[in-house]
Amino acid sequence: MTFDDFYALVVARRTQLVMDQERDVDVDLINTLCRTAAWAPNHQQTWPWLFGVFTGEGRRGLGEITADAMQRNGDTELKVTKTRTKYMRSPVLLVVGTAQGESELQTQENRDAVAAGIQNLLLGATAMGLGSFWSSCPKGANDDVAKHCGWPEGTHITAMIYLGWPTRTLPERERPEPAITYFNS
Ligand SMILES: Cc1cc2nc3c(=O)[nH]c(=O)nc-3n(C[C@H](O)[C@H](O)[C@H](O)COP(=O)(O)O)c2cc1C
Repeated sequence: MTFDDFYALVVARRTQLVMDQERDVDVDLINTLCRTAAWAPNHQQTWPWLFGVFTGEGRRGLGEITADAMQRNGDTELKVTKTRTKYMRSPVLLVVGTAQGESELQTQENRDAVAAGIQNLLLGATAMGLGSFWSSCPKGANDDVAKHCGWPEGTHITAMIYLGWPTRTLPERERPEPAITYFNS
């Protein structure tokens, strides 16, 4: 692969949720993507990533427990109702958790590693032709989602990723130039 190929892949990755509802994603592809995430840099080699794959009615159950937590936390009825079914919008909803570290610093670095892993995964999905959408865990629902996934207390839900076969191509877009400062003396 040339750098230009790699750069084109990076630019081609887009957040998008218009997906073919009838077309499943093969479990081998999902496993491969999770393995791709696990190649991210990881200080102290804590291997902090956790993956929960929700398909079929599993997506509805996830929506229900998330919505219940939001309701308990006083979210609006509109948001709560929308959440009950929102994970049905793609054939796969992949929850990515970060394990708590043994110190505050390790917990932060675990999250950094998992975020790097998620980018690996999203790029891999793009290379496979899959559409993806990294969404946050709704406010107040972190612990309920982690428990639902069977993960230890203190797990941070770092992403809830919609995955599926896209039915449209998004137009190209611009990004602001990054701020780069050189220090050489
Ligand atoms: C940590 C994180 C959380 C995100 N959560 C949400 C979210 O909850 N809802 C949403 O619409 N997009 C979410 N996004 C996606 C961004 O909105 C998206 O990446 C941004 O608009 C740029 O678009 P692009 O990914 O197509 O380049 C999240 C991205 C990151 C990195």
